[in-house]
Amino acid sequence: MWDYLKLVVLAVVAVGAAIAANYAHDLPYMVNAVVVMLAAAITFLWTLRHVGDPPSLADVSANYNDGVVKAGVIATTFWGIVGFLVGVVIAFQLAFPQLNPAWSQGILNFGRLRPLHTSAVIFAFGGNALIMSSFYIVQRTSAVRLWGGNLGWFVFWGWQLMIVLAATSYVLGGTQGKEYAETVWYIDLWITVVWVAFLLVFMGTLMSRKEPHIYVANWFLLSMIVTVAMLHVVNNAAIPVSLFSSQSVPVYSGVQDAMVQWWYGHNAVGFFLTAGFLGMMYYFVPKQAERPIYSYKLSIIHFWALIFLYIWAGPHHLHYTALPDWASTLGMVFSIMLWMPSWGGMINGLMTLSGAWDKLRTDPIIRMMVVSIGFYGMSTFEGPMMSIRAVNALSHYTDWTIGHVHSGALGWNGMITFGVLYFLTPRLWNRKGLYSLQLVSWHFWLATIGIVLYASSMWVTGIMEGLMWREVDANGFLVNAFADTVAAKFPMYVVRALGGTLFLAGALIMCYNLWKTVTSVDRKSTAPSAVPAE
Ligand code: HEM
Ligand code: HEM
Repeated sequence: MWDYLKLVVLAVVAVGAAIAANYAHDLPYMVNAVVVMLAAAITFLWTLRHVGDPPSLADVSANYNDGVVKAGVIATTFWGIVGFLVGVVIAFQLAFPQLNPAWSQGILNFGRLRPLHTSAVIFAFGGNALIMSSFYIVQRTSAVRLWGGNLGWFVFWGWQLMIVLAATSYVLGGTQGKEYAETVWYIDLWITVVWVAFLLVFMGTLMSRKEPHIYVANWFLLSMIVTVAMLHVVNNAAIPVSLFSSQSVPVYSGVQDAMVQWWYGHNAVGFFLTAGFLGMMYYFVPKQAERPIYSYKLSIIHFWALIFLYIWAGPHHLHYTALPDWASTLGMVFSIMLWMPSWGGMINGLMTLSGAWDKLRTDPIIRMMVVSIGFYGMSTFEGPMMSIRAVNALSHYTDWTIGHVHSGALGWNGMITFGVLYFLTPRLWNRKGLYSLQLVSWHFWLATIGIVLYASSMWVTGIMEGLMWREVDANGFLVNAFADTVAAKFPMYVVRALGGTLFLAGALIMCYNLWKTVTSVDRKSTAPSAVPAE
């Protein structure tokens, strides 16, 4: 009965999408409608072939639903490579503008590829890492199977569909023009549906838990899910111009629109790229170090202080704009206060290794995790500093911001995710260990050198251009034209692109290592060992 209902819904969606494609007012809408039609048709055929099949043995007997976590490992790795590759391409495009040839205009030029990069790394790579980790952690710490049957799979595939829709619409010019919220109105609606399903699966699993206590990693993950839902719905409130167009009109305007956007933007960083990843830290670092968290009490203080302070800090993105001074000061003060819980969390993560520091010599995965926590500390010191109005007057609009972003994104989000992928792959595929720890070491060094080149070149060029922009002569005239600063940045742009290439090379090595782990490392024996006869 349930299968037939699914077939009817899928058929209606496929036919509806075909009709929508026919009436489309613009190209991104038409291409998105065709993608939806194909996705619905393929799922229809797959469901039809499996109508009445008994549930697979793995689905019935296994304690945990690990299939969806395995799919998450593959998706995170795949989208990571795509996102880093596009990052490298746009880094070279900035250094060598000839890489935006006339034939590529309107599809592959920098302006089209930049949002593709940011969304691919944040939502495709980071989002899949968060979904996969949440599903793994919540099952283990609650000692129950994922709630909601196949709802976890709906979340996984729904998220992949969102990524494909977003990517195809960006390169064709479909965007709302809000940074990190570029997706057009109908994709926003779809994100809401998938995200609510994610919340249900997570909450359902927590509520059916067999463990009395809710482990702190789950607090961070749940706060991420709930807050991102709120931010997404409020920031994307818009009225479509037609049911068959990708265009819409935002409900806010002027400085209110800017404030809502940066309330969203900053908390996307705070909850998606920080709270969610801290959830990963609090579970996987103790596991890999085989030590309990340094201080559980500190982790609770960290949680409440972080979520209370983050939500007020958004106005630091709008210093010296039409935003009232009091709001800008409020954002600055809360940002400075944020330094404390952030470093509390960093110390808690690092000190978890106390008594196991020797592992830094022998275990490259722990090394990756420690470096990631180090970069978390660095970017959460730099952020509060940049939020001070006088400092922001120099840093805003410059590459310093880009350096800050990537020391957080590559160092913190990237490195911890790599550590988690190395942790999960042998366990999920039941292998004795990783294919090669030496390759993990190579990955570690390539990624670390890549990040250092990326961040340091951006700090240099950022401060240089900030100083050049404000330089005036004795008569008060600006000394440098904008083009002068662009020319002066060239060597640093090349260094950044090379740093990105190293980071990408490390990730490709990881892919190979994970692939070989699954295909050529022996299975771990799960059979009970034989007891010798007395
Ligand atoms: C190989 C690695 C990477 C390279 C080479 C790279 C390169 C770039 C470049 C060239 C830009 C445009 C900068 C500009 O407009 O001046 C950019 C922007 C951005 N990237 Fe990356 N990126 C990489 C990885 C990542 C990762 C892993 C993340 C997040 C998890 C990330 C997040 C961002 C964000 C948020 C922006 C927008 C920054 C802003 O507007 O202030 N990137 N990246
Ligand atoms: C205590 C924590 C942090 C504070 C107070 C903070 C503060 C800031 C400030 C002041 C800016 C510059 C705004 C501007 O001039 O436009 C900024 C930009 C940014 N930060 Fe942070 N930051 C923090 C941590 C992080 C972390 C850990 C990440 C990444 C994982 C991150 C990602 C970003 C991004 C993506 C932007 C660029 C936004 C844009 O597109 O303009 N931040 N942050």
